[in-house]
Amino acid sequence: MSTAERYDHIGTDYASVRRPDSRWVARIHQALDGHRTLVNVGAGAGSYEPNFISVVGVEPSQIMIRQRSSSAAPVVCGVAEQLPFLDGAFDVALAVLTVHHWSDPGAGLAEMRRVSRKQVVVTWDPDVFARQFWLVRDYLPEAAERETQLATLATVVAHLGPATTEMLPVPDDCTDGFFGAYWKRPYAYLDATVRGAISGLALLDRGVVAAALARLRFDLGYGRWHARYAELMDLCEIDLGYRLVVAEQ
Ligand SMILES: C[S@@+](CC[C@H](N)C(=O)[O-])C[C@H]1O[C@@H](n2cnc3c(N)ncnc32)[C@H](O)[C@@H]1O
Repeated sequence: MSTAERYDHIGTDYASVRRPDSRWVARIHQALDGHRTLVNVGAGAGSYEPNFISVVGVEPSQIMIRQRSSSAAPVVCGVAEQLPFLDGAFDVALAVLTVHHWSDPGAGLAEMRRVSRKQVVVTWDPDVFARQFWLVRDYLPEAAERETQLATLATVVAHLGPATTEMLPVPDDCTDGFFGAYWKRPYAYLDATVRGAISGLALLDRGVVAAALARLRFDLGYGRWHARYAELMDLCEIDLGYRLVVAEQ
């Protein structure tokens, strides 16, 4: 099963749980400012698409396409590895938390370079993620193992050429429910709907996830989680390894 087909199964509640976060919107839109045309690759339900640029989305999953709002930009059903556009057709190509799903990330990133002069990619550094995120480090190291096989920051930078990389901190009330979003709201990970929109959990072995969640539930119930991670309560944002990569030819 391709990841796009998997999204037809795991993406059902995506738009309700993965609402674009305003702080990330501001950072991403800053990188898009001054440009006129944009292709959003792996566009999903349309998160982070600006309304000040002419946008076309590319998305393989019909379930995701159906969750785009009626006012969202037009979308083409397709994959990153074969973008149906002429060379240099866009000022910018955007890809937010999608490259790790592509069957051939190198080909998809080359396609982004072919069709645009500037590429803006949100991905993450799995070393920072595994070290800084308590859920992975202390409860679910299997998730970190899986991530070593995914195309993340190093792959993106290697294929985009000279690029700037900026840290994207995760706010404590982040509205986009990606894997690290609930770092200060641990009960959220006990919610099956929340987990269903996080591929890093939804695609892991169910028994492994269930065992980790049983330990988390126990620690929360006995006050051990709050005792162990008390210092997190003083933070309003955290670096979990999420990165904004910007490359310009
Ligand atoms: C985590 S979602 C991100 C969606 C959107 N960019 C966002 O920020 O909400 C990952 C998306 O990548 C899409 N995807 C999977 N394989 C793909 C491929 N080969 N090319 C383009 N998109 C793909 C999935 O269908 C899914 O919509």
